[in-house]
Amino acid sequence: MKNFLVTGGAGFIGSNFIHYLLDHEPECQIYNLDALTYSGSLENLRDVEKDPRYHFIKGDICDGENDALIFKENRIDTVVHFAAETHVDRSILGPGQFVQTNIVGTYTLLEAARYYYADSKGSFRFHHISTDEVFGTLRPDEPAWTESVAYAPSSPYSASKASSDHLVRSYGHTYGLPFTITNCSNNYGPYQFPEKLIPLIILNALEKKPLPVYGDGKQIRDWLHVQDHCEAIYMVLKGGTPGSSYNIGGGNQPTNLSIVELICDLVDEMRPKSSSRRDLIHFVKDRPGHDRRYAMDSSKLQKELGWSPHYTLQTGMRETVNWYLEHPKWVAAIHKQVEYQAWVEKNYVQR
Ligand code: NAD
Ligand code: TYD
Repeated sequence: MKNFLVTGGAGFIGSNFIHYLLDHEPECQIYNLDALTYSGSLENLRDVEKDPRYHFIKGDICDGENDALIFKENRIDTVVHFAAETHVDRSILGPGQFVQTNIVGTYTLLEAARYYYADSKGSFRFHHISTDEVFGTLRPDEPAWTESVAYAPSSPYSASKASSDHLVRSYGHTYGLPFTITNCSNNYGPYQFPEKLIPLIILNALEKKPLPVYGDGKQIRDWLHVQDHCEAIYMVLKGGTPGSSYNIGGGNQPTNLSIVELICDLVDEMRPKSSSRRDLIHFVKDRPGHDRRYAMDSSKLQKELGWSPHYTLQTGMRETVNWYLEHPKWVAAIHKQVEYQAWVEKNYVQR
């Protein structure tokens, strides 16, 4: 592992992963290919932009010629593919972009990878970043998902991610492309775009705006701090078995409402006000087809590679709330985006 192509590195998890790699791989070269859509920002990498090991390439993974050139010019040996459309609510209101980026984009990148690999014949790994949502939804009594559970995606987002996972496996099976896949649960932490539950609630709580909870708020996610996710990806790159996938989860099962209450209490503690932020909780119309529960069984990753999360929900959430409080300029830049304001209007007003 020396020359890394990281796609979507200007987004939430990708930028955290680039920071992680620079801290752990002194000899690496990182090529960050990102189209800078609404959720990607070079502000997430401002502190490393002058590092001689880091290179930014603005481009779309759907541009096959450009993908091929990047492989060849930079002798890529490791791809870490994060680039995607990622928000379920956006996929419900407009699935087309999800099909284009997540399915067509992954196919285009795979095509460039397979021709390059066939020509170069060197050591190579295509690591695909995926999600627990490909498995669908769980009843309260059902066990957590293992890697052998059948896919049953239920939103346009998860269906497009499932398709991309299938394409990656098929390129391994048919063309011998060495790949690994990680399917991870919901992440939280620094640099997450505030359309997602946790940063949205932190920032609304700070600004004393209503805190929108979909439906009854009893849906369950398996939250993982992004730093623990980055470590898992790194371990799979180093020691994972080519041709296999690994499930990654935080091993916790809070309801959305309890997450929102935890954030309210942390914001109250760090920025005290006369009334509790819990008073701002506002139940709104549910998401159509809302998955009820996700839970990941990470025992394969634990047994094979010795991974387990370092953060608890308490320590991770405290650090995350603090990060958003300490980065008002980063937040203000997003809040100013016309696109972001339009999204808030479209998704929440009259919900
Ligand atoms: P994000 O929305 O924060 O970032 C996505 C990045 O991809 C952005 O920088 C964007 O500019 C870039 N991008 C989008 N379309 C592109 C294109 N056509 N070409 C090049 N770049 C493009 O997303 P994230 O939360 O960091 O998610 C990263 C990956 O992790 C995704 O594949 C997602 O499915 C997966 N994942 C996310 C979570 C989560 O909780 N956020 C959990 C499990 C898996
Ligand atoms: P989200 O962060 O969008 O991640 P995902 O849909 O990929 O799990 O949402 C997490 C949970 O929070 C999900 O059950 C939907 C819910 N949610 C709300 O209740 N209110 C909100 O404003 C948002 C964005 C999400």
